[in-house]
Amino acid sequence: MINHNHDEDDFMMAFQDSCDQPALLLIHGFPLSSNLWIPQIDDLSNFVRVIAPDLRGHGRSDAVSGPYSVEMLADDCADLLSSLNVSTPFVVCGLSLGGYVAFEFYRRYQEYIGGLILTATRAIPDSEEGKANRDKMADAARQQGVTAVTQAMLPKLLAPATYENDAELVEFVAEMMNDTSVAGVIGGLAAMRDRPDSTPTLAEIDVPVLVIHGDADQIVPLVEAEAMAAAIPNGKLVVIPNAGHLPNLEQPDAFNDAVIDFLESLALGE
Ligand code: MLT
Repeated sequence: MINHNHDEDDFMMAFQDSCDQPALLLIHGFPLSSNLWIPQIDDLSNFVRVIAPDLRGHGRSDAVSGPYSVEMLADDCADLLSSLNVSTPFVVCGLSLGGYVAFEFYRRYQEYIGGLILTATRAIPDSEEGKANRDKMADAARQQGVTAVTQAMLPKLLAPATYENDAELVEFVAEMMNDTSVAGVIGGLAAMRDRPDSTPTLAEIDVPVLVIHGDADQIVPLVEAEAMAAAIPNGKLVVIPNAGHLPNLEQPDAFNDAVIDFLESLALGE
């Protein structure tokens, strides 16, 4: 745990850190935690210093009340890296909400970044209908608790085959979701609802970018990831077969191989 202290905005932020170099920051999706990255912490720690925070309100970080924004979440991550004195350049990897935060992190701190990994995420903002759905989900969390969000989202988070056949993984993800605080769910929904359009950022990214996407992602269709990767000057797309919105958990070996190839191509820290 680290004390994240910004004047009155004071909370305990939890994180996992494998201590090696160069650093890989892993930003989880909604409403998950750093436990999303257990297969990466286990397998990638031989190659890089893996740092996986629990975003505010999620996992073991304090249940700070909202509103949250992607700007605030990016600053939380930057403050953590600064407290840990990580060497630069480092690589930032974000899944879904974590990808929205990674875009903002890039806009704010690009001088420290050597590469970006964007997985199961999109550059476009929420539609008006999408924003209204965020508010409905926040109301459900307020009135019925976090399990209402878990029940609505969980079948869509995994590929249909994973959901049907891998009860252990389904249970693991459900527990991670249910561990999120109501404040974290409401704050995370507001951050996603109000996130800026990252489409104009794509052409400006001047570091190598790896886009990793599951072929059975039911939340962000693969065509969006294809368009996003094509719009990034130095962007490469890896499609993971038999994976939904959580490709790093559903197909960890394929995901980790793609990340290791990318990290080797960057040759950071040599
Ligand atoms: C996530 O996985 O972080 C969210 O489902 C993304 C979203 O709803 O836009």
